Amino acid sequence: MLLLINVILILWVSIVRGQAGLCDFPKINHGILYDEEKPFFPTYVGKFFYYSCEYNFVSPSKSFWTRITCTEEGWSPTPKCLRLCFFPFVENGHSASSGQTHVEGDTVQIVCDEGYSLQHNERTISCAENGWSTPPKCRPSNSQGKCGTPPAIDNGDITSFPLRAYAPGWTVEYQCQNLYLLQGNKRVTCRNGQWSEPPKCLEACVISEEIMDKYNITLRWREQQKLYVKTGERVEFVCKYRYHGAPASQPFRTTCQEGKLMYPSCKRH
Ligand SMILES: *[C@@H]1O[C@H](CO)[C@@H](O)[C@H](O)[C@H]1NC(C)=O
Repeated sequence: MLLLINVILILWVSIVRGQAGLCDFPKINHGILYDEEKPFFPTYVGKFFYYSCEYNFVSPSKSFWTRITCTEEGWSPTPKCLRLCFFPFVENGHSASSGQTHVEGDTVQIVCDEGYSLQHNERTISCAENGWSTPPKCRPSNSQGKCGTPPAIDNGDITSFPLRAYAPGWTVEYQCQNLYLLQGNKRVTCRNGQWSEPPKCLEACVISEEIMDKYNITLRWREQQKLYVKTGERVEFVCKYRYHGAPASQPFRTTCQEGKLMYPSCKRH
């Protein structure tokens, strides 16, 4: 009898308010509705219920019981149970998240020790409905952690015969062409399938006899007669016999900077 009255009431409400005003039984994955046995559904706008999430799941509000209300647009807030993922520690690696609990949708960055990597060379794991997308475990890198041929650099090359693949931890050295200055670390190391930053070879300066003639200068130390100087090396000029430094001249002692040299100039009085 009571059931019949209930059904009639709901029908009446649905006629008065229109079909849009009805809410169906809310299906909540990993959650339960308080008092859900009672045949209250579909129910009308304004009616509210409480739901709770299973062990290891949490509602977006994070409270044990969360209230949901039937509105013209449906249940509000949308009932949801989100997975909780515990983050213990990373085997053979580390993460700032160690010891924390995360919620479905969270992403955690992981750094593996040298020679180890996450599945598929990923750097992050995320908390999903079934737990961590990938176990927080760094495994020894096999072919995945290998590096290809070391990167090519301008005016320099590696000192060993290039291979097609290098194992993790492998080191290769670079050398610059004669007179070029090596800047950075001459050794690169293969880590997690990537080479560390290669060095640069900085250009040398060519001292031109023609330019020296034009500026009325010569090299101070004749005996050196160096026409090439490396980046960072000093050069000293003097005026030619019977010439004197021009008023707006560049300094007579100068340094080669990545292939560029500033020449001083002299004039005859
Ligand atoms: C070199 O000396 C000559 C003669 O004094 C002068 O005309 C010329 O400007 C000088 N060159 C430079 C670059 O100053």
